[in-house]
Amino acid sequence: MALRDIIVLPDARLRLVSEPVKAVDAEIRALVDDMFETMYAAPGIGLAAIQVGVPRRVVTIDLAKKEEPPQPLVFINPEIVSAADEKSVYEEGCLSIPEYYEEVTRPVAVKVKFLDRDGKAQEIDASGLLATCLQHEIDHLNGVLFIDHISKLKREMVVKKFKKAARRGEHPKPKVEDDKPSHHIG
Ligand code: NI
Repeated sequence: MALRDIIVLPDARLRLVSEPVKAVDAEIRALVDDMFETMYAAPGIGLAAIQVGVPRRVVTIDLAKKEEPPQPLVFINPEIVSAADEKSVYEEGCLSIPEYYEEVTRPVAVKVKFLDRDGKAQEIDASGLLATCLQHEIDHLNGVLFIDHISKLKREMVVKKFKKAARRGEHPKPKVEDDKPSHHIG
């Protein structure tokens, strides 16, 4: 396993549409292992492969709290089959837009089909934080960021801030607060 670098705004690769995985082979499983290591170290609760610069449709999620045993979830080629009409609001953050949080409105529940780590077809009915996280990560696979769901004014402000930081050669890192669960969704 190896820790990989997480790319941040305004890296143009964040806008790529990731390619489907054709076969869940050793290379994909190695990518998944690296993504978990990178996600836990960040720390974040979800990660899409493009965030480590790999444009493939692979997502890792672990919603376990600090004191709980890890609950690693892998979603390969995830696809939203259906979404609830009811919406929920969650203050999201993103490892590729560190230190910025904003409320995002999304369907409260989604049905998602995907391949698991063994390449087996699966389906999950997700609600609550898992539904939010899955939608956030599937957005990444389509080159969409959570700031695309907020007002244009707020989005332009945060993009400007990160462009300025990049020009100065700064690479913002998420702040780790031990007593608080990370709300960098991924
Ligand atoms: Ni994200």
